[in-house]
Amino acid sequence: MATYPDTFEFNHLNRPLGIEWSRRNLTVEGRIPDDIEGAFFRAVPDPAFPPLFADDTTLSGDGMVSRFLFQNGAVDHDIRYVRTARYEAERQARRALFGRYRNPFTDDPAVRGVGREVCNTTPVWHGGRLLMTKEDGRAYEVNPHTLETVGIYTFGGRLKSETMTAHVRIDPVTGEMFFFGYEAGGLATEDVSYCIADRDGNLVSEQWFRNPYCSMMHDMAITERYAIFPVYPTTANLERLKAGGLHWLHEQERESWVGIMPRYGKVTELRWFKGPKGVSAYHFVNAFEDGGKVHLDVCLSDTNAFPFIREPSGITTKQWEIKGSVSRWTMDLSKPGDGIALADVAPPGDLPRLRDIDQGRPYTHFWLPTVSMKTGGPPVVGGPVGTTFNALLRVDFAAQRIDELNLGPGIAFNEPIHVPSKRPGHDGWLVACIDREHDAQHHESELLILDAANITAPPVARIRMPVPLHPQVHGWWVPASELARAKIPAPR
Ligand SMILES: [Fe+2]
Repeated sequence: MATYPDTFEFNHLNRPLGIEWSRRNLTVEGRIPDDIEGAFFRAVPDPAFPPLFADDTTLSGDGMVSRFLFQNGAVDHDIRYVRTARYEAERQARRALFGRYRNPFTDDPAVRGVGREVCNTTPVWHGGRLLMTKEDGRAYEVNPHTLETVGIYTFGGRLKSETMTAHVRIDPVTGEMFFFGYEAGGLATEDVSYCIADRDGNLVSEQWFRNPYCSMMHDMAITERYAIFPVYPTTANLERLKAGGLHWLHEQERESWVGIMPRYGKVTELRWFKGPKGVSAYHFVNAFEDGGKVHLDVCLSDTNAFPFIREPSGITTKQWEIKGSVSRWTMDLSKPGDGIALADVAPPGDLPRLRDIDQGRPYTHFWLPTVSMKTGGPPVVGGPVGTTFNALLRVDFAAQRIDELNLGPGIAFNEPIHVPSKRPGHDGWLVACIDREHDAQHHESELLILDAANITAPPVARIRMPVPLHPQVHGWWVPASELARAKIPAPR
């Protein structure tokens, strides 16, 4: 019988749980604020079977959709696998059939031609639909009421791109969804699709362009007038894949790039700016315009943060030696040239959370999980990096102030969501799962609700989960008013 590898990718918080579970009326300590009515969806990678290759990564894990449903101060939780073609094929066989991360040439011949999607990265809500996404393929639609998998989602057959990012950007005024897909034309291609869906979810624009090289493009950004496509030198190569090798290696001596175009323009209008060599970023806090300039706030590191990419690339930087920051990249569109000005604006961290209304606009503050030295113990092992975040920051540019929530050693923070308040002047609420590790095989999970303006105050409510939760990647808040408008009607 195959067993899970004895690596951090499958141990500690990353150990497979495979728990499909439902519970109504969880015990709430404190009081759920009236503003919190709706669903907190989370994407969770949890490998249903031991992998074919021992060097596999947690990023390959089968996607599960987890939901906390808030109704009248009560909270329910449900979690289900996304029943992708891949999950169903392996469930039938009772073993793994798909090979290395994003390398179909290493798959069992029995699944040749079967979709490799795992849908484990972000639950995206748009146009009344819940889409489970991961950047290496198309999304799957999931019934937001029952968590049953509907099937692969192609915008009614209109999407040409073979891939769709897990990091869409939704304009808070127009309701449009801006997104992209890299390797849009197939494995290791330089093709990138750039798409717009109107507020009702109809795909109204799809254009393709070619990147400077085939890059792992995890996120994009928008401003009120521009679409922004950063490119970092984590690269793929078809010959390497055909030889059974790794999808990604990081090229420390290669330049990074930022492509900017009018967001309703043609891809032929893309203007490329050249960034530093060897740097890496997965997530952008936000972007905004300032006269003729565009500012892009980047969760930047000086090399790729993932050991499964960095180490085979021959980069000897240890995890704790990686340097980073939230770095403001400024491109001046009013001047010729391809230069970018860089300035550190916040400490290192990742999985940033912005208020939805600030998307693409000048903004005053955001929230950021980070690794803090004040915790009094090492970070808990988990996630694709191997170290989890042990503190949560509220970074306030306007007040020039950073607050840090630190709950002591043995705690891992998952990415928070932000729920706005109906009260004028109130900063709303942050909702986040934390994991409390006891030892390598045991942890407990909790849901915390924090005052978003005052994260260091005691939580306004907490829910201690009766079962451990696998760490999420990203989450999404869907208010009850939106759930009521779901394309799939709620069961009576
Ligand atoms: Fe992400």
